[in-house]
Amino acid sequence: MDRFIDAYGFEPRVTGIADSQGFCSDEAGLDLALALKVKETKGTISKYPGKGQRTTESSRLIASSESEVAVETTPSNFTKGEPGLSNIKQSLSTGKHVITANKGPLALAMPALLELAAHKKLKMLFSGTVGGGTPFLSFASKCLSGEKILGVRGILNGTSNYILTRMEDKSLTFKKALLEAQQKGYAESDPSNDVEGLDTAAKMVIIANWVMKRRITLHDMKITGISSVTPERLKRARTSGSRLKLVGRLSESETSVRPEEVPLNDSICVPDTLNALTFSTEHTGDMTLIGQGAGGEQTAGAIIRDLVDIRQEYKI
Ligand SMILES: NC(=O)c1ccc[n+]([C@@H]2O[C@H](COP(=O)([O-])OP(=O)(O)OC[C@H]3O[C@@H](n4cnc5c(N)ncnc54)[C@H](OP(=O)(O)O)[C@@H]3O)[C@@H](O)[C@H]2O)c1
Repeated sequence: MDRFIDAYGFEPRVTGIADSQGFCSDEAGLDLALALKVKETKGTISKYPGKGQRTTESSRLIASSESEVAVETTPSNFTKGEPGLSNIKQSLSTGKHVITANKGPLALAMPALLELAAHKKLKMLFSGTVGGGTPFLSFASKCLSGEKILGVRGILNGTSNYILTRMEDKSLTFKKALLEAQQKGYAESDPSNDVEGLDTAAKMVIIANWVMKRRITLHDMKITGISSVTPERLKRARTSGSRLKLVGRLSESETSVRPEEVPLNDSICVPDTLNALTFSTEHTGDMTLIGQGAGGEQTAGAIIRDLVDIRQEYKI
């Protein structure tokens, strides 16, 4: 916390934490080292001494809390967006700025959530949802301000890119490359959101709404994943001087995610778990940002960046 005081002149106080089994709260501020220890040793934050409540309705914490900012990081759900969608709506409705790393609610309802935040004169920030470690969203909204972004094209899912790279380099089948990605910790035990293109599509929806002011949702995206890609298809791409990549595209005429042949000299033709995004602009031409996608630490860092942004704008 000293780092915050030195650099930004404020000391954030965490007054409530929820997990799937309950929550703990203290308006005077929770002891974060103790909270971490309780979660690690007892499995649920609701066992925080004297301040915890066991319940499956963690949303009660949002209703009762007087905090100025809510940080929403429940698992991404691309079917209904819950519980994140209700948590974000409830936080904004009860006067809290929102920071989220959860792509589900944004993918399904970003136009409505942005409208609600604007109506309530509150911020909803989500740097951790796209790139995390590589600030694609800030690059577009801050460095390209004043430019018209005509299109965006790129690779935003490190898991899929790793699988395609391994399939190509080692002639592995999709199944074998997926297993290897899981063993290395790049793919989750249920990898469907990554390999079926939903994760990339959700990120493209967020970019479309935030950077291009296009009010679309996941339902507007045409999505094809990589699970039916064969080593033969990758070999064919290589013979014609390309690599097969899972590419997300946004333009006036296209909102898609699908495997595409990308020429070797194209800047988005990156290997392994790298992400790459080309912004096509009206006056400056094409600009590409390349970097690592998110891990836990990068995402936590993005959440802190958002918190500092809110502090600097609202002086809370
Ligand atoms: N980790 C990354 O690298 C990364 C990168 C970018 C974005 N994200 C996004 O950030 C979010 C969090 O990721 P993560 O890796 O930390 O996920 P995680 O390890 O699955 O943690 C999710 C947390 O949400 C809690 N939770 C689940 N259902 C809940 C409910 N109904 N009420 C209250 N809490 C509930 C879980 O509680 P329990 O502990 O009790 O299960 C857990 O603490 C996800 O949306 C993810 O897509 C993560």
